[in-house]
Amino acid sequence: MRKLKFRRGVQVAGWLMVVSVLWGVTCSSASARKRLPNWKGEAGPAVIPLPPMGWSSWNSFSNTVDSKLIVQQAKALVTTGLRAWGYQYVNIDEGWWQGRRDEQSDIVVDAKQWPALRSNERAGDMANIVRYIHSLGLRAGIYTDVGKGGCSTWYPDLGPGWPGTGSEGHYDQDFQQFAQWGFDFVKVDWCGGFKEELNPVVPYTEIAQAIRKPEADTGHSLYYSICDWGQDHPWTWAPGIGGVPADIWRTSGDIAVPIVAHSTDSSRTIDFSKVLANFTNGLHPEAQHTGYYNDLDMLVIGMPGMSQERDRVHMSLWSISGAPLIIGADITQLNKATLAILMNRDAISVDQDPLGLQGVDLSRPESGLEVVAKRLAGRGRRAVVFLNETHSPAAMSVTWKALGLQPSASAEVWDVWSHREAGAYNSSYSVTVPPEDVVMVLIKGTEGSGTRYDSPSLTDRGNKATFAGVRSEGLHAVKVVYTNDSAGTSVAGLEVNGSFVTKVAFPSTGRHPEYVVIEVPFGLPASGNTLTFTDLSGKGIALRTVTVLAGRV
Ligand code: GLA
Repeated sequence: MRKLKFRRGVQVAGWLMVVSVLWGVTCSSASARKRLPNWKGEAGPAVIPLPPMGWSSWNSFSNTVDSKLIVQQAKALVTTGLRAWGYQYVNIDEGWWQGRRDEQSDIVVDAKQWPALRSNERAGDMANIVRYIHSLGLRAGIYTDVGKGGCSTWYPDLGPGWPGTGSEGHYDQDFQQFAQWGFDFVKVDWCGGFKEELNPVVPYTEIAQAIRKPEADTGHSLYYSICDWGQDHPWTWAPGIGGVPADIWRTSGDIAVPIVAHSTDSSRTIDFSKVLANFTNGLHPEAQHTGYYNDLDMLVIGMPGMSQERDRVHMSLWSISGAPLIIGADITQLNKATLAILMNRDAISVDQDPLGLQGVDLSRPESGLEVVAKRLAGRGRRAVVFLNETHSPAAMSVTWKALGLQPSASAEVWDVWSHREAGAYNSSYSVTVPPEDVVMVLIKGTEGSGTRYDSPSLTDRGNKATFAGVRSEGLHAVKVVYTNDSAGTSVAGLEVNGSFVTKVAFPSTGRHPEYVVIEVPFGLPASGNTLTFTDLSGKGIALRTVTVLAGRV
C-alpha cells in the first residue's frame, strides 16, 4: 500500500497494485472522484511526440561503422540543410561493438573505432561521439538486440560474426549505460530473440522498464525503437509497451540488404517492390496515434536502383503513413534533386502532422491503383496520395464525402510535388497519375459533422470510462476529449466491445481539457459499440466525450 498524488490537490490512498508483465504498468482502483473544472471553451489538441526523423548507418555502411564515418554523416546532415528540416537523429546501427564485456560485464568498445575526439576524452568511450553529435544540435541513437547473440552474431553481413552482441541478461546495465553515454534513441533488434524463440512481448516489456529506470533517475530519456520486423504483430502489443509515452515498431522485414560502396556489397541494388510491400504491410492505423508509430523501415531514397519517380513515391508513402523518416543513404553523396525530395516541405508536414495518425487505405479502384488519405490537424484538412503502380497513366479520384468533408462545399487542392495550387473543387477531385508514380495533394475543405457521445462515468476519475451505444461500423477517427492534470503522460487501454484494441497515451493537459484523435475499428452490435478506456498509469485521466468524426479517414 502506498500513497500517490492522484490529481492536483487530491491524495488517494488504497491503491490496488497489479503488476502485469504484459502491461508493465500499475493499475489503480477507481476510488477517486472529483468535479471537473468548469470549462466552457473549446478543447485544443494535446501535444504528442511526432515520428522521429534522422539518419541510420545500416543501409549504406552495414557493420563498417566507426567514429570518422559518423562525424562525416553528422556534418552532412547539417551542411545539406536536412537538420533544419527536422532530420535530427544520427543512429549508429550494428557493428559498433564486438560483444566484449569487462569483469563488471560492462560493454567494452574498440578504442580505434571510437577514439577521443577532444583532448580531455578517453579513447574507447561512446560518450565521445555522442558529445560530438550533440555539439551539432543533433541527437544520437544506438543499437542492440533482445537476445544474447545479436544480429552481428547471426547475420553480420560484411562479417565476421561476433558472439555475444546482444543485451540479454544485461538489460538494466546496458540501457543505463546507453543513457549515461548520452544517447537519445535505442533500436532493439530481434535476431537473438528470434534464435532463442522468445515471446517478444516479455523481453520488449522488460526493456521498456529498463529504459524507464535511468529516465526516472536522470531525466534523460531514450526513445524506444522496437525492431521485430513485424514478426509477431507488434502493432497489437508495442504501442505504449511498459507504459512508455512514445515508441515505434517495425512492421516488416528490411527493404534493403546494405549496399556499401567499394565493398563486396557494392553491386547490390534496391528491389523497389519491397518499398511498396513494406508500405502495405505497415498499415495498422488503429495502432498509430498519440505518439506511437508503425515503422515501415529506413528510407532507401537516393540509393542504387532508385530513381526520381521512385524516390518521390517512397517519400509520399512514408509521409502519408506518418512513418519515421530515417534516411539510409550516404548523405555525403546525395544530389540536389534527391535532397529536394527529402526536404519537400509539404511531405514533411504531412509526416509530422501534430495529430500523429496514419493514412488509411481509402480505395483500390483497380489492381495497382491505390488511394491513401490522412486526416491532418486543423478543421477540414486532409492529405491524399494517388498511387499508380501500373505501366500506364491512370485517372484516379477521391470524394469529399469519403474524406469526411462537407460534400457540397468547395475545397482547395494543393499539389505537393509540383508545388502549385490545383484549384478549388466541389464534391471530389480527379487527377491523371503518370505510370509508376504518385500524385500527392493537400486538401482544405469544410469539416463534416461528427457524432458526439458522453461518458456516463464522466466524473469518475481513475479506472474506467465507458462510452456505450456508439453507432459506427468499420474504421473511424475518434476525437477523445480528456483532462490529465498529473505531471506526465497517462496511458490507458482501449477495449471495443470487450476486446482489447490498443493503448492510448494521454499527455498532461493541466486543468483544461485537450483532445487526442485515434482510429477505432468498430463492429456492428445491435445496441451499438461500447468503448472502454482503462487507466493503466495510476495517474488518472478524466475522459469527457468521444466524437466519431465524419468520413472514413
Ligand atoms: C536487422 C534490422 C536492420 C539492421 C540489421 C543489422 O536486419 O532489421 O534494420 O538493424 O538487423 O544487422
